[in-house]
Amino acid sequence: MDSHASESYFVIGEGLLTESAGGRDDSNGAARIASASATAADATPAFRFSRMGPSGTGRQPGEGIRKKAANEMAAGGGGATGIPAGFTYLGQFIDHDLTFDKTTVMLGENVSPAQLLQARSPSLDLDSLYGAGPSDPESAKFYKDDRHLKMGETLAEAGIPKKVGFDLPRGDGSTAAKKRKAIVPDPRNDENLAVAQTHLAMIRFHNRVVDTLPSSVPPAQRFAKAREIVTKHYQWMIRTDYLTRICQPTVVQNVFNQGRKAFEVGVPATDVPTMPIEFSIAAFRLGHSMIRREYNWNAIFDFGGGSLDLLFTFSAGSRDLGGGPRLPSSWIADWRRMYDFKEANKPGLAVPPEQFNRAMRIDTTLVNPLRTLPTASFGGPNVPQNDPRRNLAFRNLTRAKMVRLATGQQMATFLKAKGVTLTKLTKAQLRDGRNGADLSLLTQSQREAFLKDTPLWFYILREAEFNGGRLKGVGARIVAETFHRAMEGSEHSIVRDTSFKPSLGPNNKTFRMVDLMLFAFEGKKNLLAPLG
Ligand code: HEM
Repeated sequence: MDSHASESYFVIGEGLLTESAGGRDDSNGAARIASASATAADATPAFRFSRMGPSGTGRQPGEGIRKKAANEMAAGGGGATGIPAGFTYLGQFIDHDLTFDKTTVMLGENVSPAQLLQARSPSLDLDSLYGAGPSDPESAKFYKDDRHLKMGETLAEAGIPKKVGFDLPRGDGSTAAKKRKAIVPDPRNDENLAVAQTHLAMIRFHNRVVDTLPSSVPPAQRFAKAREIVTKHYQWMIRTDYLTRICQPTVVQNVFNQGRKAFEVGVPATDVPTMPIEFSIAAFRLGHSMIRREYNWNAIFDFGGGSLDLLFTFSAGSRDLGGGPRLPSSWIADWRRMYDFKEANKPGLAVPPEQFNRAMRIDTTLVNPLRTLPTASFGGPNVPQNDPRRNLAFRNLTRAKMVRLATGQQMATFLKAKGVTLTKLTKAQLRDGRNGADLSLLTQSQREAFLKDTPLWFYILREAEFNGGRLKGVGARIVAETFHRAMEGSEHSIVRDTSFKPSLGPNNKTFRMVDLMLFAFEGKKNLLAPLG
């Protein structure tokens, strides 16, 4: 499958940062930096990354430290939070939207340099849902007609009939693998069942917006109008509901009301944004700590029956949908277990607390199955169970080393110099945390090195441990500023269009994820939880 793992990063001003020996570390651990004046083919960037802070040259932990720290991080532990578990996979969906390389679906003959630039830049335009739109020949396959997105149907199973509109569209091609493959612009959205069902919810959201447009909107404009409404509501929900759950709300307010202090400050709003590596390789990987090892998935796979492993199995990206060409009906999501509809005053759409799923706390611990990822989830190779490359924490720490990411301490100093108010974590806080990863298995000298130059991802997660499982300080600032810039530079932008007010929620200030789901699923229990 097209995996998450990018084997090289094109960083503006630095060129291509990659690993030197076949995707693994070389003996002295240095990343190779290709000359910026490499041939056009070499230098064509896959995606435009930038460096927000300083380079972390000479401060990267060696492989021994990364292995031990990653093992401790992915040993399980940590607790749940108040955040409903649906937000974990909404986060993954958003990440894919932000990092989607549009050229994968729209690289035709006539792509201008300006379009190429735009296509390979972060935005929150839902290109991962829309591709290049229904009138583009490459993207037409995602659409049922000139304005509705396609949905798929499930496979009858366990006495439950097939259900139309509850799986991603699939079934192009003749081989079993091709039949299974989801027909969506970003195949990463079929990496696990929870993100796949989230993508499907977004398809439904768009289709419902199309269907409820006033008849005064002329046919030729109905798709474009719906897309604008969908995108702006989605951004509103991210700003007011998603971000304030994962980041200290005062930081989000400060960035959105007073502007950015550290990232692309003062650039013209419509200039094409870049993606800071500090966000992509560290801060926004916060979502990995929110993943549970098991879910109360639906009425059939309840009480932990929806293990993370099965969520991989019932996807075509990581495994094989359980063997059939489509999702079996018994695996349709029950959204009442993933989002709390009591927030929207719908007690009739609530499940008892013991059936509800809460995300794991944002902290330095990951659930143990993430030590042994399915190899397809990161694009292989097919390495043994205990190979560190299967450990997501090791991958994240190693990726940071590859691009010589700034350490947590460096970023704290950098942000303070930019006028951001924050308190640096002390060495004791970094060492001991608060019910997070235990560093005592590192040798004394390894631990000293790790606490002196702490990998940014770990630092940010430790900060969250001391803030009830919400990013603060360095982490909150990097995340809020990156989102602000990506929204500002999107084609439809609630940052630029300050007059926008949501119209699909309970009032003109409120549009949360529960409102999006209620709208998408018509507020109906038999659509939000068809298995009862
Ligand atoms: C079961 C769920 C998930 C799995 C299996 C997964 C797995 C992965 C893998 C294998 C990578 C590539 C690692 C590498 O650099 O080699 C990755 C990258 C990344 N993940 Fe996740 N991830 C999951 C959920 C999430 C969530 C919930 C978030 C954020 C809220 C997230 C954010 C990111 C980011 C920002 C990257 C780097 C950029 C990118 O490639 O998209 N992931 N993930």
